[in-house]
Amino acid sequence: MRIVIKNGTVVTTEGVFSADVVIDGETITAVGANIAKDYEKTAQETVNAAGMYVLPGAIDPHTHIAMPFMGTSAQDDYKTGTIAAACGGVTCLVDFELQQKGESILGGIERKISWAEGKAAVDYSLHPAIMDPRPEIIDEVKKAIRDYGTPSFKVFFVYDFRVDDAVLIKLLAETKEHGGLVQLHAENPYIIQHMNEVLAKQGKLEPYYHAKSRPNIAEAEAVHRAITMTELTDSRIYIVHLSSMEGLAEIQTARDRGIAVYSETCPQYLLLNEDRYKEPDWNGAKYVMSPPLRTKESSDALWKGLRFGDVQVVSTDHCPFDFKGRKDMFGKEDYKKIPNGAPGVETLLMLLHSEGVVKGRISLRKMVDVLSTGTARMFGLTKKGSVTPGKDADLVVFNPNQKFVITQKKLHQNVDYTPYEGMEVTGMPSKVYSRGLKVAEWKNDHMEFTGETGRGRFVKRAPFEGF
Ligand code: URP
Ligand code: ZN
Ligand code: ZN
Repeated sequence: MRIVIKNGTVVTTEGVFSADVVIDGETITAVGANIAKDYEKTAQETVNAAGMYVLPGAIDPHTHIAMPFMGTSAQDDYKTGTIAAACGGVTCLVDFELQQKGESILGGIERKISWAEGKAAVDYSLHPAIMDPRPEIIDEVKKAIRDYGTPSFKVFFVYDFRVDDAVLIKLLAETKEHGGLVQLHAENPYIIQHMNEVLAKQGKLEPYYHAKSRPNIAEAEAVHRAITMTELTDSRIYIVHLSSMEGLAEIQTARDRGIAVYSETCPQYLLLNEDRYKEPDWNGAKYVMSPPLRTKESSDALWKGLRFGDVQVVSTDHCPFDFKGRKDMFGKEDYKKIPNGAPGVETLLMLLHSEGVVKGRISLRKMVDVLSTGTARMFGLTKKGSVTPGKDADLVVFNPNQKFVITQKKLHQNVDYTPYEGMEVTGMPSKVYSRGLKVAEWKNDHMEFTGETGRGRFVKRAPFEGF
C-alpha cells in the first residue's frame, strides 16, 4: 500500500521544510519538495497535510506497563498502554522489564514479550531492570545485548530491590565491554530513610511530605556517586527521570570534564511543582512519584538542560495507579505506602509542543530530537526516529493550531485521572501512523484509535555506540 502525505512541513533535527512524504508498505520511501505528483497516481491514499507538521512518531523510552509494584501493579497493560500511546502520537515504547527474585534477565525479557503478544498496537522494546544481581546475572548482560537486542539496563539506588555501588561498578564495566548502557534511578536511600524517620516522629505523613522526604540533595548525591563510578570504569551512564537543578548541575560539571553521562527528564518535572502535593482532599497523592515534583527553579533549569543538550531525552515514566482504589489502597494515612507513579504516555507530545515549542522554551527541531531522533540514537532504535527514506513509517501529521483541553474522559490511558486535568494545549496529532498503518486520528474533539492490537512488534535494538 502506498500513502502520499503532501504539502506538509517536515521537521527533522536538521531543518524544518516543505516536503511531501511517500510511504510504501511499512517504510518511508521518499521525502522531497513537490514530489507528490510523481507518486499520487500509484497511491492508495493521499493525505493533504497543508498547515500541518510531519513529525517522526514520538518514542517513550520509560514506561511501566503492567508492572507489579508496592503491593499492586501499574494499570495499563500492553493493549490499553499502546492504544493510549498511539492516540498521543507515541509510536514506540521502550518499557521496563523488572527481573523478579530468582529469575534470569533473559527469562524476564521472554516473559514480558509474552505479555505483549496479541496486545501491542505500536512497536516496543524492553530495558531489563536488574533487581537480583547474582553473579550469573551480570554474565547475562552480553547475551541480552547481542542476542535479545536489549542493550540498556536499569538499576535502582532505592526501593527494596536497590543495588549497591559494587553492583553498579560491575555493571558499568560489563556494559562498556559489550555495547550496553546502564540507566540509573538516582536517589540516596539513607537520606530518604533518615527523613522518613524525622517526619514520622513529627506525625507528618500527608502526601506533601513525600516530597520533603526526598530532598533535591538525595538525587544530587546519587548522581554524583554514579558519575564517580562511571569515571572509575571509563564507562557511560544514563540518569532516568532527572528532577532537580542540583542533579542537573552534577551532570553538567561531569560532562564539562568529559565524562559520558546522559539524562532524561519527564513532563511532570518540567511542568508541575511541589505545591501540587498540597491540593485538598488528599489530591496530592496523584503526584506521589519518585523522585518527587520539585520547585519552579528546578523546572526552569531542566528546560535549560534540554536546550543546551545536557538532558538529551524526554520520557514519561508512565506508571498509572487509580486515585480511587490504588493510590489509597494502603497509603491513606502514610505517604510511604502510596504506590509511586503517575500516568503520562498519552500527553507527552501535546505537552512538549504546547508548553515547550509554543511557549518558546525549546525549538521545534529540539522537540523532535528529545522525543524521537535523539531517543532513537540513545537506545539503538535504528529504524525509528526520523522522517527519512528507509526508516519505519512511524509518523505524526500534527496540527499545530488544534486546541485541546486535557481531560481524562477524552484520554485512553487505563486510569481514573491525569495530572494535567483542565490544562489547555495548542497542537494535537491529526493522524498517527505506525509502520504505515493509521493507528489514531483526530475526530471532532478528541483522538480516536484506528489501529490493530497485536500488530505492534518487539524491536531488537542495536548496541550503544556512544556520542
Ligand atoms: O514513581 C515512580 N517513578 N514509579 C515508577 C518506578 C520508577 O522508579 O521509575
Ligand atoms: Zn525510577
Ligand atoms: Zn520509572
